[in-house]
Amino acid sequence: MFENFILSKEKGLCVVRTKDYNRVIKKIIKEIQKINRERNKEIKIELHGEGIRTFEGMEFDKEQLIKDIKENVEKVYIFRNFAPLSEDEIVQFIEKYTQKENTRTKVFIVSPEYEIPTSVEPHIEEIFDYFPSEDEIDKGLKYAEGLSLVELRKANEDGNITEYRKRILAKSGGILEVLETHDVDTPVGLDDTIKLIEKVYQSGIGRGTLLLGVPGTGKTLIAKFLSKKYPVIKFNIGAVYNKYVGETEKRLRDTFERLKQFGNCFVFIDEFEKLIANGNGDSGVSKRVLGELLFWLQDKETNNYVIATMNDISSLPVELVRPGRWDFTFGLTPPPKEIRKEIIKYYSEKYNVPFDENLAGIENITPADISAIYRLASIVGVEKAKKFVKLTKDISPRFEETLKAVERYAVPVYQKEIEDLI
Ligand SMILES: Nc1ncnc2c1ncn2[C@@H]1O[C@H](COP(=O)(O)OP(=O)(O)OP(=O)(O)O)[C@@H](O)[C@H]1O
Ligand SMILES: [Mg+2]
Repeated sequence: MFENFILSKEKGLCVVRTKDYNRVIKKIIKEIQKINRERNKEIKIELHGEGIRTFEGMEFDKEQLIKDIKENVEKVYIFRNFAPLSEDEIVQFIEKYTQKENTRTKVFIVSPEYEIPTSVEPHIEEIFDYFPSEDEIDKGLKYAEGLSLVELRKANEDGNITEYRKRILAKSGGILEVLETHDVDTPVGLDDTIKLIEKVYQSGIGRGTLLLGVPGTGKTLIAKFLSKKYPVIKFNIGAVYNKYVGETEKRLRDTFERLKQFGNCFVFIDEFEKLIANGNGDSGVSKRVLGELLFWLQDKETNNYVIATMNDISSLPVELVRPGRWDFTFGLTPPPKEIRKEIIKYYSEKYNVPFDENLAGIENITPADISAIYRLASIVGVEKAKKFVKLTKDISPRFEETLKAVERYAVPVYQKEIEDLI
């Protein structure tokens, strides 16, 4: 967990977010000793701070720390809930570090609250190690979901797990954000599909589910619905791309690391096809990004369960849908007649507009079409609304073609057999 930072050349300061100081500090020391053994190094350790008198008989000597930093002495300082330098000094330290090729003096501040000076934030490593409070566990917050019993027992007094876990995402450069939604429509007819996704997620060994489908059939809605119960993190692919060579891959690795620290959650990758289409004109980069993503999908250690959606599947690389890649590849098609009726009923009740039998007779009308008609109907009446709203099938290029491809690659969600898998 800490080894990468200790051996990194770019960063000098690591802030570890925890209240479980002893365990974390022991872990840092163990990792340093392991490096010393394996790499035949002699990284010295100095430990100071609250609750620690001295380490090997040393009092904290600030001048010595500054001197060591200046001379780039191979040494790790660990501070327990204690800021060894003022904000200005930290900024100076970091600025100095960023100019160096190889940084050898490392500083750990182990503290849940230490405030990182914003100007140097990107140059500071931040590692989260968090246990929820009793109160949080009692409340059964969705953000506590997935932590083990042992972790729960170690729960800290007054932490706030929701905020804590969200902070892990805050510095992802917009790549990761919590999907929080209000007033989510009920995904009519998709109960079995959702139950099945929940079942694999809860097993902890799932990889991910791919949702293929024409627009307006409930792909995004499934993710929104799950977010009512579980943490769902939106993974914005576009934000991964960076104009600096090599940065894109680095950002991606950093993103995976953040997700690992975040722990159990759904990772929602909407419009996965954009990854293939939009490589900033550089198809080499997008190929590598796709490769890394697929590798991560198979290899991730934490239960970051991926829900990926695609609707333009005209240029779908076969490697993306080959058997074993996903737990399920579901096809979101326009619903069959009986489900259309249920959806019409749902929206007619939601908007307090009479049920319209004729709508149920339109083949390939999507749930989004029905929802749009009824929303408008609540103002202008059903007949006018029907004339006004253009249907997805009439405005989407390659609608039929996409449907055919969906059938070819995916299991249609309205197929009865899905029920048997639950
Ligand atoms: N099964 C459903 N039951 C009820 N409403 C639905 C259903 N599917 C979709 N809707 C309605 O249609 C809207 C649009 O659906 P959604 O955003 O999930 O489409 P999508 O498949 O993600 O489309 P796109 O490919 O355009 O992103 C939803 O917000 C909801 O109002
Ligand atoms: Mg969508």
